[in-house]
Amino acid sequence: MNVKISERIRYVGVNDHNKVIFEGMWPLPFGVSYNSYLVVDEKIALIDTVEADFFDEFMANIHEAIGDRKIDYLIVNHMEPDHSSQIRHIISAYPEITVVGNSKTVPMMEGYHGKISKMHVVKDGDSISLGGSTLSFHLTPMVHWPETMVTYIAEEKTLFSGDAFGTFGALENGVTDSDAHLCGWLGESSGCCSEFRDETIRYYSNIVGKFGLTVQAALKKLAGISLERICSTHGPVWEKDIPEVVALYDRLSRYEALEKGVCIVYGSMYGNTEKAARALSAELTKRGVKNVLHNLCSENVSYAYRDLFRFDTLIAGSPTYNNDIYPPVFNFMHGVQARLVKNRNFFAFGSFTWAGASVRLLNEVAQKCGFNLLGDGNSFAQAYSPEKCDMSQIAEIVASL
Ligand code: FEO
Repeated sequence: MNVKISERIRYVGVNDHNKVIFEGMWPLPFGVSYNSYLVVDEKIALIDTVEADFFDEFMANIHEAIGDRKIDYLIVNHMEPDHSSQIRHIISAYPEITVVGNSKTVPMMEGYHGKISKMHVVKDGDSISLGGSTLSFHLTPMVHWPETMVTYIAEEKTLFSGDAFGTFGALENGVTDSDAHLCGWLGESSGCCSEFRDETIRYYSNIVGKFGLTVQAALKKLAGISLERICSTHGPVWEKDIPEVVALYDRLSRYEALEKGVCIVYGSMYGNTEKAARALSAELTKRGVKNVLHNLCSENVSYAYRDLFRFDTLIAGSPTYNNDIYPPVFNFMHGVQARLVKNRNFFAFGSFTWAGASVRLLNEVAQKCGFNLLGDGNSFAQAYSPEKCDMSQIAEIVASL
């Protein structure tokens, strides 16, 4: 796809409809885009590249945009291979090109691609003139790797933000948030950030979720710059929805819940903890409390992390297994801790047969996260029954929050 974004800026990225699991973990029901941009001035800069499998399409996009003109600079905002895999090929195609990165980019670049002959190392705030426009570079470490930086063009009021403000989902019908649709989407648009909103939250929670502090630092650093366009490496070019997507990233990176409601996660071996989870969901629904159920045994954990970031209350159900939390729920809770999630209400429940440990251990994890425990939890022996595991009390407490 070669799309004119402005007089100087062309989109030359690609859609990936074949990869089913991103980073080997996260489902891609709507595909994903790898965005790359050309800034065409007296000199030409290519900003980021695309994933390894797309060389022919990527080069065709570039040629369609600039014909036989040479590219002067390759700006490497981020070294993760979904954006850097084509660096060696681009250098082969444009041997005179200067590769631009910062001091943390260099060892990663050499490790992935070998020694780069023409490398220009920039510091925070450095700039390069292309003639009528100037690229300025701003280091944003840990959004999402140590070497990450963003590139800003004041003349275009355009920020090339790397993974920041990215989303899962391939683009169809265009590339800006006014034109683009989420490929394969059949649901209702939810308004803010259009149909990309759910996939933006899922992308943030899965990929960037751990880095709330550094995202906040980056947002502060970029506050006050004049913006007409944010060009991320995944998803639409944000123009009309800039205030919404920036506010969404701000809230997510503060670990501020986006809405009141309950994310219920559970695992179940023989159905007893599952019955308790469904009873809880029914009691919450009866009281008008929004809730979603995630069975971690049958569903990819990606969606549970999305709803963890979305809702203000997490309720986790786990049988006791090896005197511990049942592995699928243990792994989820490890991910909650790893993402440094805070500001959530919490409650635990689960079954055991001869010695209960899971509820106590779930509460311990929640306490380490600083969550607000809504009670001691519902631990019950052997088969589920409403008498042994009364979910009406916790539903009443949640409804009163
Ligand atoms: Fe899309 Fe951190 O790479």
